[in-house]
Amino acid sequence: MDVVLEKRQVVRAYEFYAPVYDFIFDWIFAPGRAAAIKHLALTAADNVLEVGIGTGLNLPLYPPTCRLTGIDLSQEMLDKAVERVQNLLMPNVTLKVMDATAMDFADNEFDKAVATYTISAVPDPVAVLREMRRVVKPGGTLVILNHFRSERRVTGHLEDFVAPLCTRLGWKSNLAMPPLLKAVGLTPDLVSRVNMFNGWRLVKCANRK
Ligand SMILES: C[S@@+](CC[C@H](N)C(=O)[O-])C[C@H]1O[C@@H](n2cnc3c(N)ncnc32)[C@H](O)[C@@H]1O
Repeated sequence: MDVVLEKRQVVRAYEFYAPVYDFIFDWIFAPGRAAAIKHLALTAADNVLEVGIGTGLNLPLYPPTCRLTGIDLSQEMLDKAVERVQNLLMPNVTLKVMDATAMDFADNEFDKAVATYTISAVPDPVAVLREMRRVVKPGGTLVILNHFRSERRVTGHLEDFVAPLCTRLGWKSNLAMPPLLKAVGLTPDLVSRVNMFNGWRLVKCANRK
């Protein structure tokens, strides 16, 4: 079943979630966050992009030496990230309201890009991943942390069944990983399962252009 998530639904949903997002999504999803940033294997000189940075829950995990740009569609989520940057005193971070399907960055501008819990919350995941590929240098690193449709029959059907409701809440419950990666020409170097019930997948790819 293909359920369409629209941009206005996402903007409205995250305007609503912004004040409470950290209470719900901090500790439950923390193990995956730590693993995702670790797999970026950041060095001091790295120029990194975080797509759909939200309230900036990953910010404390970045080394102070790297240059980080965070973008998000939701002004309300980004306002929280701005507060976090100020509290953590991170002059190395730049935050921008931007649609990840049409990024205002040059080709090959970044060494690495990461999207945590974002790819199933964007209206057009293929366009977002294509943009991530465009703005990351050849041979650079892409890390995606997300819940994808289960390959187990019953769980997969259950995720299809709840998809219309989840779409209203602002995310897709049944985004399938293999066709998505195929559509954008990405071959994972690593796929590992993280978080509660191993229900989320961490995908690391080299940006082979
Ligand atoms: C579930 S939240 C994840 C936030 C953050 N990455 C985290 O790990 O907590 C998804 C985020 O993606 C953002 N988003 C959705 N569609 C987007 C788009 N097209 N461009 C940029 N950000 C988008 C939402 O506004 C929201 O902040």
